[in-house]
Amino acid sequence: MVGTKTAHSPIGKRPRVVIIGAGVIGLGMAWRLAARAEVLLFDRGEAGAGASHAAAGMLAACAEAEPGEEDLVALGRDSQAGWPAFADELLQATGIDVELRREGTLVLALTSDDQATLAHHLEFQRKLGLPLEWLSAAQTRVKEPHLAGKLAGAVFSPQDHQVDNRKLSAALRVAAETAGAKIHEHKTVKEISVQGVRATGVVLDDGTSVPADRVVLAAGAWSRGIAGLPPDRRPPVRPVKGQMFALRMDANAPLLNHVLWAPGAYLVPRRDGRLIVGATVEEKGFDETITAGGMLTLLEAAWRAIPAVEELPIEEIWVGHRPGSRDDAPILGRAPVENLFYATGHHRNGILLAPVTADAMAKLILDDVVEPAIKPFGLERFLPARAAE
Ligand code: GLY
Repeated sequence: MVGTKTAHSPIGKRPRVVIIGAGVIGLGMAWRLAARAEVLLFDRGEAGAGASHAAAGMLAACAEAEPGEEDLVALGRDSQAGWPAFADELLQATGIDVELRREGTLVLALTSDDQATLAHHLEFQRKLGLPLEWLSAAQTRVKEPHLAGKLAGAVFSPQDHQVDNRKLSAALRVAAETAGAKIHEHKTVKEISVQGVRATGVVLDDGTSVPADRVVLAAGAWSRGIAGLPPDRRPPVRPVKGQMFALRMDANAPLLNHVLWAPGAYLVPRRDGRLIVGATVEEKGFDETITAGGMLTLLEAAWRAIPAVEELPIEEIWVGHRPGSRDDAPILGRAPVENLFYATGHHRNGILLAPVTADAMAKLILDDVVEPAIKPFGLERFLPARAAE
């Protein structure tokens, strides 16, 4: 991995860890670290208000697996397996139920062309041993009676579940604070302080210096903009804009129970009757514009899959910015200076990967142990071979 050794604190002294970014990644790490470290989180806005708030909460380690993403699939499966215990532990620690729903995911084929594309994907996904199965049109309709009158079938992914990501942020915040972490909101970190080969803390945009024994960069789409390191050593993370909206169903008679990937949109039903529909994928920087075209595409795709959505009220429309790395996988590990760590670039998978990131990064930061699951995700994969040595 990039970087050199982590200096361990003198015996008896709790190291101070500064985490930049209080989304689900930063909060999860803070929760795991706070028993053994003094943890300070800084966020440019409110905790959990960035991509963690905008997300849909899908835990899609199987249905979204693409060729070339074998390591990412393994990481996702690892995290997925840990989700039930993570949700239970959060409930015990905070009293907040993050609503892990276990109906699974359907990937819908409306036409025979859709079916051919899914069959091609399924062949690859099965080679990875992922538990996906093809359902006929009739079998699909038994699972979801409100689907369009004409459909070809669906891939069923029985282990791709969902959580309420907004409740997750709220729970992680309580868990982290109860464990002793201090969260500083609306405090933008301008710069990582580096002396020689070592990170020594951060500087806020009001000029305040905050010394630290370890610094963790978990600022999502904003990670690259934080000064202190040369540009080629900053994590290559960019914002990937997504427009989304929520409809309101009758919670006692929902139109949908599974997470549904339809051609052109996904639909995620919440227990309270919200139906989340997303998302566009746009390379527009931090643009926050809601466009007619974006809404039209999503609405039409949702309506083709479930015609009855046309009767539902629109409750909320929003934009989020996924932290996309150059290969769409997260950057987890040591940075190119001592005592600095990266946990960013989770792109479409931040909610899924929150448990494994929290656990593996806590071990790395405090015990200097690199878990095998995160080994492929260091920054060095983006650096010229000699620079990474
Ligand atoms: N994971 C869903 C999205 O990125 O839109």
